[in-house]
Amino acid sequence: MSRWLLTGGAGYIGSHVAVELLASGRDVVIVDDLSTGFAARIADSAAFVEGSVQDTKLLAKVMRERDIDGVVHLAAKKAVGESVERPLYYYRENVDGVLAVLAAMNEAGVNKIVYSSSAAAYGEPAVGEVAEDEPTVPTSPYGETKLIGEWMVRAQAESQRLAGSGLANVSLRYFNVAGAGSDLLGDTSVANLIPMALRATTSDKRPMIFGTDYPTPDGTCIRDYIHVVDLARSHVAAAELCERDSQGQLSELFNVGRGSGSSVREVLAMVSEVLGYDVDPQDVERRQGDPAVLVARTEKIERVLGWKAELDLRDMVQSAWSAWPHAVSLRA
Ligand SMILES: NC(=O)c1ccc[n+]([C@@H]2O[C@H](COP(=O)([O-])OP(=O)(O)OC[C@H]3O[C@@H](n4cnc5c(N)ncnc54)[C@H](O)[C@@H]3O)[C@@H](O)[C@H]2O)c1
Repeated sequence: MSRWLLTGGAGYIGSHVAVELLASGRDVVIVDDLSTGFAARIADSAAFVEGSVQDTKLLAKVMRERDIDGVVHLAAKKAVGESVERPLYYYRENVDGVLAVLAAMNEAGVNKIVYSSSAAAYGEPAVGEVAEDEPTVPTSPYGETKLIGEWMVRAQAESQRLAGSGLANVSLRYFNVAGAGSDLLGDTSVANLIPMALRATTSDKRPMIFGTDYPTPDGTCIRDYIHVVDLARSHVAAAELCERDSQGQLSELFNVGRGSGSSVREVLAMVSEVLGYDVDPQDVERRQGDPAVLVARTEKIERVLGWKAELDLRDMVQSAWSAWPHAVSLRA
């Protein structure tokens, strides 16, 4: 049985990744500083070490003592708006985090990594449906830190390859993550559309639609929504791919989305349907920096990883709604 170190395993996505890695028969050791995560989310059968991913010494010690085979690195700060206000904080948290993880892996001789990147790496691409080779021009410090992380992983892998040790690596660019795998693992941040809509309607407000004059069929922005359980399973497929590469030569990058888009109006219509009443969205001005369409091309991940999303928008909204009360109580 292999053992994976999972950074950020007390977070929204990380807690789902822990569940899926454990279900696949792997052991999991979580490192998390609980800065935005919650101890209550940590899977019972995962080991937990509280600490920062910027602490190379601690990470190397955990890797050596726990006999770690590979790392899934998710721990990061993720609020785009906050990253514009506090860029240095984001660079320190996210870039130093990747640096410390890679240094510790090198020290401890761990040669497999799955890295959590983001569609924010693309910025505002010229095409709506993006393949992995689309130019990356992030439009926020957050997106920059995620892209820099990809570069660091690849550069370190190349240097270890030249040195003969290798570093099997897979970077996953997540699109719009939504839903919950259980009522205890909902998203506690309200930066994404579905939690924003749930918060608005449960506090007697109207969810806002930022811009209704985009060149899309209903005038609102189109995004690729991916269920967090599907996303978590893509990490297991990526870990498996790394495990099959005994020489550490693998270096891959995949979009993780459904490969189809939903407009803001369609998502809010689904929220109304699931809640059983009209959430009555309010149309407001466009926000700066929102591309009209951002949808993943998923041919590569389907072909190479054999992974495909199975859950749909209704599953995402229903599970997010069902997990909402607990997410609110965690946030309080
Ligand atoms: N949620 C999304 O829609 C989305 C989309 C694209 C990419 N991502 C990426 O997915 C990853 C996880 O996001 P999430 O939505 O689960 O966020 P989250 O805030 O719920 O989880 C992040 C976890 O990392 C931990 N953490 C943060 N900084 C740390 C540090 N310095 N040391 C140790 N632990 C630390 C937090 O305590 C938390 O448990 C992030 O890397 C994020 O950039 C998220």
